[in-house]
Amino acid sequence: MRIAVPAETDANEARVAATPETVKKLVGLGADVVVQAGAGTWSGITDAEFVKAGAAIAADVAATVAGADVVLAVRRPTPASLAGVAQGAAVLAIMDPYGQHEALEGLAQAHVQAFAMELMPRITRAQVMDVLSSQANLAGYRAVLDAAAEYGRAIPMMMTAAGTVPAAKIFIMGVGVAGLQAIATARRLGGVVTATDVRPATKEQVESLGAKFLAVEDEEFKQAQTSGGYAKEMSAEYQAKQAALTAAHIAKQDIVITTALIPGRPAPKLISAAMVESMRPGSVIVDLAVERGGNCELARPGEVVVTDNHVKIVGHLNVAGRLAATASQLYAKNLFAFLETMIDKESKTLKVDGEDELVKATRLTSGGAIVHPGFAAA
Ligand code: NAI
Repeated sequence: MRIAVPAETDANEARVAATPETVKKLVGLGADVVVQAGAGTWSGITDAEFVKAGAAIAADVAATVAGADVVLAVRRPTPASLAGVAQGAAVLAIMDPYGQHEALEGLAQAHVQAFAMELMPRITRAQVMDVLSSQANLAGYRAVLDAAAEYGRAIPMMMTAAGTVPAAKIFIMGVGVAGLQAIATARRLGGVVTATDVRPATKEQVESLGAKFLAVEDEEFKQAQTSGGYAKEMSAEYQAKQAALTAAHIAKQDIVITTALIPGRPAPKLISAAMVESMRPGSVIVDLAVERGGNCELARPGEVVVTDNHVKIVGHLNVAGRLAATASQLYAKNLFAFLETMIDKESKTLKVDGEDELVKATRLTSGGAIVHPGFAAA
């Protein structure tokens, strides 16, 4: 069994899909691992370290994937970059499949089995394979550090001979995986932290982290969590009440971190231009939802916008990738954990069980067709 790890090609992607630790484990399972030269550079992993772990290094992508039974990647590979893989090869990546019918067709035509890691069910057995959690956790942490770096004042309260510095007020909007880590990080830095969400379960989580919870807790709020644990899109009435409640609060904040998402929908708009205008000069907003349309009306993907009233709105892309070494370490582990379930220990070959719920949930293409019911139709 040959496992290939090509270098990522997107200019915004510093992560890599394998680490020396996971290569060693794959070799231990009887695989030949081939890593493209330089694939780990931006995650601080040298080719020599991969070789020491048991991998071979190939000069280019074609040589890396030639004859591969498995391709491990961070972002969805192009069909052209998969030329030469074995028929039915498993390709594991963050596939970003929504609205990408043509790209998925391309993968089907390439006769690979494409697995979208972000579709992994959030069940106990698959926690170790949950790339959304491993990466969102780091994004939440990094968002607070990015905010602190843009903020022209100190975060903790300091009592010095020259005077007292007040603690920064930090508001976290959306308390999923990223938001919870943002709360914990902001607290560690000494901020005075408040947080909001539409799912009732988050109230206790926020309070257990030592932050104050703020939300419109009406009947709709009580029903806002789906059976899958995600948020529903809230009604216009709720959104208006939420905006009224948060507007006065945001005006008093130094830093706001937004992380609110609704599966398969654009990110809810939580911060209007008027709310930004109400903030003091020097305040910072970090919008982690910017790649899904943004929670802040004025956020721009990949930019740090400075408004006329000198509020900075940070819209970095791929925030987990800004901690590439750690993000790669956890992502590679997620991939290994899933791949291990598809390797037959006796024959040391790839054996995909189409009846496994993890396979059913994540496999997009197989046998030359798009097989995932969520993406089969254009
Ligand atoms: P997400 O990334 O989809 O959304 C982030 C947060 O934004 C959520 O907490 C959501 O409620 C909130 N949100 C949505 N609309 C909002 C609005 N209008 N105003 C304020 N907040 C809004 O969520 P994530 O981080 O993927 O977590 C989703 C769920 O999955 C949570 O219940 C989490 O505990 C659960 N989970 C379960 C795991 C498991 O293995 N059992 C692993 C990881 C997460």
